[in-house]
Amino acid sequence: MKIRINYHVGAVLGIVVLVVLGYAWSGLYNIGADAPHGPLTYRFLTMVREHSVRRHAEKITVPDLRDPSLILKGAGQYAAMCTGCHLAPGMRDSEIRVGLYPQPPDLSQKQVDPAEAFWTIKHGIKMSAMPAWGTTHDDMTIWSMVAFLQKLSTMTPDQYKDMVSKAPPDDDMDMGSDKSDMHDGTHEKSH
Ligand code: HEC
Repeated sequence: MKIRINYHVGAVLGIVVLVVLGYAWSGLYNIGADAPHGPLTYRFLTMVREHSVRRHAEKITVPDLRDPSLILKGAGQYAAMCTGCHLAPGMRDSEIRVGLYPQPPDLSQKQVDPAEAFWTIKHGIKMSAMPAWGTTHDDMTIWSMVAFLQKLSTMTPDQYKDMVSKAPPDDDMDMGSDKSDMHDGTHEKSH
């Protein structure tokens, strides 16, 4: 009897797997970014992302992020690479952000956990538009962005503009930059 029940359960599971695979293979699923997930799928994917980031960020030691030159460096990095998707004080929605799914959070309005932000910026998020900046930027440069993000949500448009205008230029713009090249927050390049 027990073996028979197990056999039936196995057969039902097998059919479910075949139906799911058949649906995926058929192309009926709409992969378009303008076709939102159902609420359950969205909650499931959010759970996967939040739990994964939390777990991977657990052992990261956060350095002192109050150094004004670190924050200033981060301001320049953020203005050069992030505002198109994450906006800035006084900025209206960008054309790229409204079309993205999942939609990038407006980081000028949101406080982020430093360790989790570091991990996310370094490694990116699969199946979303969030790139892994760790492939082109060293850890200190990423910490500078995290340091700046701790301030961003409290800044006025004028404070933001003022800080960005004083920030050192983004010398990582050439995507092939040497990762061993340490950035010290000054204008000079180390080579
Ligand atoms: C092309 C668009 C795009 C760019 C450019 C981009 N991001 Fe993102 N970012 C995203 C998306 C999309 C998410 C959310 C992913 C998700 O919800 O699954 C995200 C998430 C994040 C998060 C997590 C926020 C949270 O709610 O916990 C941080 C922090 C972040 N990005 C920082 C940055 C920084 C710093 C830069 C610039 C170096 C940057 N991003 C550039 C698209 C982008």
